[in-house]
Amino acid sequence: MSTLLQQLNETVAFIQSKITTTATTGIILGSGLGNLAQEIKVDLAIPYAEIPNFPVSTVEGHGGKLLIGELGNKKVIVMSGRFHFYEGYSAEQVIFPIRVLKLLGVETLLLSNAAGAVNPNYKVGDLMIIEDHISFFTVNPLMGKNESSLGTRFPDMSEPYSKALIDAATNIAATNNIHVHKGVYTAVTGPTFETHAEYRLIKTIGSDVVGMSTVQETIAACHCGMKVFAVSVVTDLGIREDNNTITHEEVLLAAKEAEPKLTLLFKELLQVI
Ligand code: HPA
Repeated sequence: MSTLLQQLNETVAFIQSKITTTATTGIILGSGLGNLAQEIKVDLAIPYAEIPNFPVSTVEGHGGKLLIGELGNKKVIVMSGRFHFYEGYSAEQVIFPIRVLKLLGVETLLLSNAAGAVNPNYKVGDLMIIEDHISFFTVNPLMGKNESSLGTRFPDMSEPYSKALIDAATNIAATNNIHVHKGVYTAVTGPTFETHAEYRLIKTIGSDVVGMSTVQETIAACHCGMKVFAVSVVTDLGIREDNNTITHEEVLLAAKEAEPKLTLLFKELLQVI
């Protein structure tokens, strides 16, 4: 058995030894978007530091706990805090928890993130349902030996984000008067925010927003056959000619303000999954 499979089995056995029920939906909350976790009726919270083989999240705004419980009467497993490539983890480490979720029985993954908009029609605080992504400015987490018991060597990526879930979320947003965009997320490694020229390039290649997470997780989820739904909260505008400085604090603040819309969307979506 490969080292990866051994580690996955060890981690899954550890978590299973602590829980009595399983969930088929996993949720990963992005920077400044951890408050959804407070709405969860938590049966069990396991700090990442206690989970064998889990990396430990270091970034401000990330809780760093695996929560198992219920959201609106639906069982969920929530990663409150995620692992970013820019923190120094390998891409394989970043996606390790996704594979753990899969082996715990998760079939659908809901992701949120903070992102910078390069679409000039977007405003700070807007939500964008991710329809597609561009992964070329980050590292593909499937590089290296393929673990064929998880998925195929050359995964199809023609529908990385479930069309059915996008349609369902679009209807939910309309019913609840939540304005949503639908667009393309481009992944960068970070941790630097983009230069003017980089934002222009990212816009030119067909992106609407840019961010430092989500895509590696989505690739891993597709590889092992999970459905993915992801939303970006626009926390800053990359394309603007005036003062273009961006700080992490500004990102966290904008995310916090937009969060109630995202929470509602996720909660309602859970009801139809
Ligand atoms: N660029 C990259 N990542 C981000 C941004 C951005 O402008 N905003 C939030 N995450």
